[in-house]
Amino acid sequence: MTQSANRNRVLSGMQPTNTLHLGNYLGALKNWVRMQDAMECLYCVVDMHAITQDVGYAHAESLTAATRGVTAAYIAAGIDPKKSPIFNQSQVPEHAELAWIFNCVARVGWLDRMTQFKEKSGKHKERASVGLYTYPVLMAADILVYKATHVPVGEDQKQHLELARDIAQKFNNDFSVPDFFPLPEPVITGPATRVMSLRDGTKKMSKSDESDFSRINLTDDADTIAQKIRKARTDPAPLPTSKKEMEGRPEAENLINIFAGLSGHSIEQVMADYGGQSFSAFKNALSELAVATLSPLAAEMRRLTGDPAEIDNILRAGAEKARAIAGPIVAEVKRNVGFVA
Ligand code: TRP
Repeated sequence: MTQSANRNRVLSGMQPTNTLHLGNYLGALKNWVRMQDAMECLYCVVDMHAITQDVGYAHAESLTAATRGVTAAYIAAGIDPKKSPIFNQSQVPEHAELAWIFNCVARVGWLDRMTQFKEKSGKHKERASVGLYTYPVLMAADILVYKATHVPVGEDQKQHLELARDIAQKFNNDFSVPDFFPLPEPVITGPATRVMSLRDGTKKMSKSDESDFSRINLTDDADTIAQKIRKARTDPAPLPTSKKEMEGRPEAENLINIFAGLSGHSIEQVMADYGGQSFSAFKNALSELAVATLSPLAAEMRRLTGDPAEIDNILRAGAEKARAIAGPIVAEVKRNVGFVA
């Protein structure tokens, strides 16, 4: 077995967006922070994925700001760039190089099955960018360019992870290098990996929801957070005391999940503490907890984004460390493919 196959390495990434919300924090960042102590981790801001839908001069400026903003969020949430390289994808050209080779390994039939492309391209898939179509191939390259073994992602990314495994497997077979790429595993952890909309407990909390009251943004101030929680949709019954009582009550489940995620308590513990009480009492406690957790995070994000040059330095340093890992792997891939160096 090659050294690559038994060594654990975490890679994850998030698209740069100007509206990071509680779902991004509880569902992703909090887990990424935790994983730093257990494994070698790399965290990427996937700016190349961010041009698959919108592209052009108007988008360019907001992309730059969003890349810095998301980098600030990574750091404010507790990712230590000295321990875990933080970098933007476009500064590590090996991602794009490997993606091209993977475009030639992956089959059209595999990509045709991707449900996220169907959702994002909508009715007129012929008008979607080619980049949106091969998005999952670039994602496979993001992961495998480091031979990462573990990928913390949300449920909605599991199909893309399966594709990454299929690509890794086919590469290993086609080039007769059995253990060259590991088959990366999704890591889906934590009680609140799926944070739902505050307006509709059956829909994911999302930056694209029309109503700002559906989500808590990481940049919201204390009053806004409190107001959004106060107005969050609930049902008339008191807080459930058991999982059984929670069934069919998505809004109650969501608020309890959020409390658990923010406090670090289990869902059972939260139900033991608040079950049977009215939502208004629970919402007060939740809003205090949310403000106490998110206010320092927002303040740190503001401080960091106030010095863009410093953020850019962090990204450059991260990219350099990332390239030190990715470079030799891509060189070996190119040898396997038969490219003359
Ligand atoms: N597609 C992921 C998402 O929307 C983002 C992403 C791109 C990613 N490349 C990645 C996540 C590599 C994990 C690993 O959430």
